[in-house]
Amino acid sequence: MEPLLEKELVALEAGNVQSVAGGVAFSGGWEICYRANLRSRIASRILWRIGEFDYRNENDVYTAAKAIDWPQYFSVERSIRVNVTAQKSPLKSLEFATLRIKDAVCDRFRDALGRRPDVDRAAPDVRVHGFLEEKKGALYLDTSGEPLFKRGWRAEQGEAPLRENLAAGIVMLTGWQPGEALLDPMCGGATLLVEAAAMARGRAPGAKRSFGFEKLRACEPDLLQELKSEEEKSQAQSSQPQLFGSDSDAEALKGARRNLGQAGVERWVKLEQIDVLQRAAPAAEGVMVMNPPYGERMGSADELAALYPKLGNVLKRNFAGWRCYIFTADLRLPKLIRLQPSRRTPLWNGSLECRLYEFRVVSGSNR
Ligand SMILES: C[S@@+](CC[C@H](N)C(=O)[O-])C[C@H]1O[C@@H](n2cnc3c(N)ncnc32)[C@H](O)[C@@H]1O
Repeated sequence: MEPLLEKELVALEAGNVQSVAGGVAFSGGWEICYRANLRSRIASRILWRIGEFDYRNENDVYTAAKAIDWPQYFSVERSIRVNVTAQKSPLKSLEFATLRIKDAVCDRFRDALGRRPDVDRAAPDVRVHGFLEEKKGALYLDTSGEPLFKRGWRAEQGEAPLRENLAAGIVMLTGWQPGEALLDPMCGGATLLVEAAAMARGRAPGAKRSFGFEKLRACEPDLLQELKSEEEKSQAQSSQPQLFGSDSDAEALKGARRNLGQAGVERWVKLEQIDVLQRAAPAAEGVMVMNPPYGERMGSADELAALYPKLGNVLKRNFAGWRCYIFTADLRLPKLIRLQPSRRTPLWNGSLECRLYEFRVVSGSNR
C-alpha cells in the first residue's frame, strides 16, 4: 500500500514524500496535515514527529520524552494515551517503556503547572506514539485520533469485513475507473463498493469525522472548515458510477444496504441476493473484485477447495472481457481455480499475509 499512499501524498502536494517500511514520511504545514487526514483513503494515521533521540535503556527514553515541552502542544485538561511499537529494540519490556514515556509527559506537566493530564486508554483526547529502533527512537503526536479507516459510515460489522483503507487500496490496485462497471459478487458488508462509490463521487473519506489534531493547541478550526467546504464544492465534478454487489446471504445484504445508506451512496449500487456460482455479468465488460470467505474465520478449507474450480468455470463462462480480482489469504487459490493469474500483489490484512490475484478473462480461455 505504500506506493499508493505515496501517490496520494504527492497529489496533496506534501513535501519530501518518501516510503518507509509500513508507512510514508512527508513534510508540510498544517494545511497538508489536515488535507492528508481528510482525503487519504490509504493512511491509517498521520503522525506528527515532535522528537528524535538516541537511547540504550528506559531511562534514556524517559529523559528524551521529558525534554519535550508537552504543555506547549496540548492542555492539561486533555486525557492522554501512549502507544509504543518497536523494531529490533533492545528493551525487554515495551510496556515498561510505555509507562516511562507516560511518566515523562505527566512529570513535565506537573513541573510546569503542578497538575498532570489523566490517562484514558479507551477514548483519549491526545495519543502519543513512541517508535523504538535498535538505537534510535522517535516520539509522535497522532493528528488523526481514531484510525482513519473509521470513516463514520459503518453501520454493520458483518462477517469479516475488510478495513476501509485496505478496501480502498484494493479498488485502486484493480485500476478501476469510474466509467467502468464494478461488481463484487461476494460483497458482504459492501466495504469495497462503498469505497469505490466514495472515490467515484469524489467524497473526502474524512468529511464526516473528527480528528486528533482538533484537540491540539495548534489547531486552526477556520482552516479545517475552509478545507471541508472546498471538499463539498469539488463534488460537483464527480462521475456517476455503475456498481453492482451480490451475496448469497440475506443477512449480509441487509448489512450492505445499511452501510451503503449510511455512506449516502446507495443510489449508485445495485444489490442482489445470488450465489456467485449463478452470477451473470451485469455489463459486457468491467472489473470484478471479491474477497471470498477464508478458512480461518469462515468456510472450511475443504469447502473452499471445492468452490474455487467452480468459480474458475463461472469466470470463464460468464465473465469473458472482464478483469477479475480476488483478494485472499488462501495461497492455494490460483492452482485450484485453474486460471493463470496475470498479476499477484502481496498485501497484509492485519497480520494475515494475503494476495490480490488478477485474472484477465478472455473468451474461450481455460488457462
Ligand atoms: C469475507 S466476506 C466479504 C466481506 C466484504 N468484502 C466486506 O468487506 O464486507 C465473504 C462473503 O462471501 C459471501 N459468500 C460465501 N459464499 C458465497 C457464495 N457461494 N456466493 C455468494 N456469496 C458468498 C458470504 O456471505 C460473505 O458475506
